Amino acid sequence: MAINKPIRDSWRAQTLAVRGGTRRSEFGETGEAIFATSGYVYECAEQAEDAFRDRVDRFIYSRFSNPTVDMFQDRMAMMEGADMGKATATGMAAVFASMASMVEAGDRVVGSRALFGSCLYILTEILPKYGVETTIVDGTDQNQWEDALKRPTKCVFVETPSNPGLDIIDIQTVSDLAHKAGAKVIVDNVFATPLLQHPLELGADIVVYSATKHIDGQGRALGGIVLGDKEYCENTLKPFLRHTGPSLSPFNAWIMLKGLETLDLRMQRHCRNARQIADYLEGRGDLAKVRYPGLKSHPQHELAATQMSDFGNVVTFSLAGGKENAFRFMNAMKMIDISNNLGDSKSLLTHPATTTHQRLSAEDRESLGLDDGMVRLSVGLEDPEDVKEDLEQALSVV
Ligand SMILES: Cc1ncc(COP(=O)(O)O)c(C=O)c1O
Repeated sequence: MAINKPIRDSWRAQTLAVRGGTRRSEFGETGEAIFATSGYVYECAEQAEDAFRDRVDRFIYSRFSNPTVDMFQDRMAMMEGADMGKATATGMAAVFASMASMVEAGDRVVGSRALFGSCLYILTEILPKYGVETTIVDGTDQNQWEDALKRPTKCVFVETPSNPGLDIIDIQTVSDLAHKAGAKVIVDNVFATPLLQHPLELGADIVVYSATKHIDGQGRALGGIVLGDKEYCENTLKPFLRHTGPSLSPFNAWIMLKGLETLDLRMQRHCRNARQIADYLEGRGDLAKVRYPGLKSHPQHELAATQMSDFGNVVTFSLAGGKENAFRFMNAMKMIDISNNLGDSKSLLTHPATTTHQRLSAEDRESLGLDDGMVRLSVGLEDPEDVKEDLEQALSVV
């Protein structure tokens, strides 16, 4: 007999992060089991027929569902306050599925411009190929949202805080406008994690994550998830995922489950360290555009303080002298690694203009305030004094 104590929705976030969704097998394991299986067996042919005709709810094939993946989905749904979630192999698979599952030729999508490069690519290159009209707005400008949402719209896609410029979008205001246009609002909540911002409570309908980032948080595995209400997840998203197949592997789901257990601890330290680094960088006085939503100088600091409980671990700043100086600075790092990833326990430094956002035109980069001297620092879990020392010595080189 499996020893399963009742799991309560009313538990607080940290308890849900540790225990939400756990289902023990008959062996009574403490740690969640990895069900490394592609398929499932049936006692008789009739049982298989019943399963495929949806007469019984059971595992059929791990492209559709898997017990370890289910545990991750349920834990995330409880933390997010969503009816349910569907996990994917990567964050981009989650972003694409969240929209592609609901739109058809002739539909219209509105997105904010300040997006991770691949998300913008989906909006501006892939969806239009299928006859979906896309309108891109400055997500911090309410007038542009009002104009764009005067016409019927299928969905709105925003990322807040945005990658890499850390723009903050008013989820409540955008959701109110979007709903009047008949649109569902999708929020890419990667930078905030399920702990620092709750888009569904602010009026959004769907939340997506790259679990590759803080949810794993230790640079081990790729993953993603889409969360929303039962109607959307069951009837729109699930058939799309089932037949197109970007499923999360059971092993990676297990890594994400373990990652969630320490997410709160890690985010507290990430945010504290990032705050110290942002203060240090701004305090130097010789760096342009030091951006961190927790700094009073951030243009949407007040909004960030109302819709987020803390400000995350990413800080961006610009070096005079453009790409050449940014590269010299990055190459001078003795501890901080150069990488395009973020949300890792290791501090990671990225030059967005030549990596994550290199596909954008120079004008698009300029409109995002993404200049060639800009670097993005994902502040890790090292002692912040060591991070500071490394930054200091590298800055002295440039
Ligand atoms: C905001 C944001 N959304 C989505 C993604 C895509 O995630 P993945 O790399 O897991 O596909 C990223 C990756 O950097 C990201 O930063």
